[in-house]
Amino acid sequence: MGAGGPRLSADPSTDPNVLLGPTAAAACEALWPLLLQAAHWRRHRRGTPPRLTAAHDPRLGMHQHDGLWQLHGAWPTAAHELAGPLLPLVADVPAGTSRVVGQLGQSLDGQVATEAGDSGALNGPEALTHLHRLRALCDAVLVGTGTAVADNPRLTTRRVSGPHPTRVVLDVRLRVPGEAGVFTDGQAPTLLVCDARDRARAAERVGDEQVLAVADLVDPAGDVVWPVLLAALRERGLTTVLVEGGGVTVSRCLAQGVLDRLHLMVTPVLIGQGKPGVQLPPVQRMAECLRPRARAYRLGGDVLWDLDLRDH
Ligand SMILES: NC(=O)c1ccc[n+]([C@@H]2O[C@H](COP(=O)([O-])OP(=O)(O)OC[C@H]3O[C@@H](n4cnc5c(N)ncnc54)[C@H](OP(=O)(O)O)[C@@H]3O)[C@@H](O)[C@H]2O)c1
Repeated sequence: MGAGGPRLSADPSTDPNVLLGPTAAAACEALWPLLLQAAHWRRHRRGTPPRLTAAHDPRLGMHQHDGLWQLHGAWPTAAHELAGPLLPLVADVPAGTSRVVGQLGQSLDGQVATEAGDSGALNGPEALTHLHRLRALCDAVLVGTGTAVADNPRLTTRRVSGPHPTRVVLDVRLRVPGEAGVFTDGQAPTLLVCDARDRARAAERVGDEQVLAVADLVDPAGDVVWPVLLAALRERGLTTVLVEGGGVTVSRCLAQGVLDRLHLMVTPVLIGQGKPGVQLPPVQRMAECLRPRARAYRLGGDVLWDLDLRDH
């Protein structure tokens, strides 16, 4: 564990600052547009980073220092709790690199869905809002084949203000139906990612403009080579990527060392045998385990673990 170990944020049921009274609620409402502006600035980067000011109180704001954004002024605790896991997602990204954030909503026993693939009511509303905030701050949201088939997700930001990210479906075996909502609803730009040799078949399914066919995407063992995928997304201007699931896709991304952060939203339910979340190759000793720097935040009845995978 990093310096100081994990810290659980204040309990919203007892801490008066976290009970979203009118002041704290207004502060969170005022902070969210600043986070969106910081994400917008990162995407377009013209001139020096602006000093951002809250609409309801000019003494509160956000500014950048050494590529990282920080709050200034006497923001209430609730605003710091909102910003804590989101500020790293709007920081500068060095040229020629990507930022990759994974997320999984999971049960206490580490499952992301039931055996039948139902994950619908797993997390509470606050966790879902957090997920939509992650989408709004990233350039692209990516899901694996299993998720696209099981959930037919929309992958939009309908719970918050902010732009929809480009939706990316990683479907190297072309198993996702062309009629899936993401390819047909016109809500946001969408890409089916496959190997270059499957371009024609993919275009037949979803139309040429929705295909990102990548040379050497898949290695001889059939595994996606994440650095190759990320370089192809960067060529489309997609530098920050939210890997939204499922467990297999996030795990393979983690195993290849390309995840910068992982947001695990743990909900107090026990699923038993279901669809597992993080799965890594076995190790023999605790000392060999991945033990990233971690911080916990309450999201209603769920707990968000924000893991910094570049600091362990
Ligand atoms: N709770 C949550 O936050 C959450 C989020 C998302 C999804 N889910 C749930 O998770 C379940 C689906 O998860 P899942 O883990 O089974 O599926 P998944 O990760 O969505 O998709 C797995 C499939 O994607 C392809 N794939 C992913 N990474 C690959 C790689 N590196 N190389 C080659 N192929 C790769 C493979 O497809 P092929 O088999 O075609 O080779 C693999 O079987 C659903 O029930 C969904 O409801 C929950």
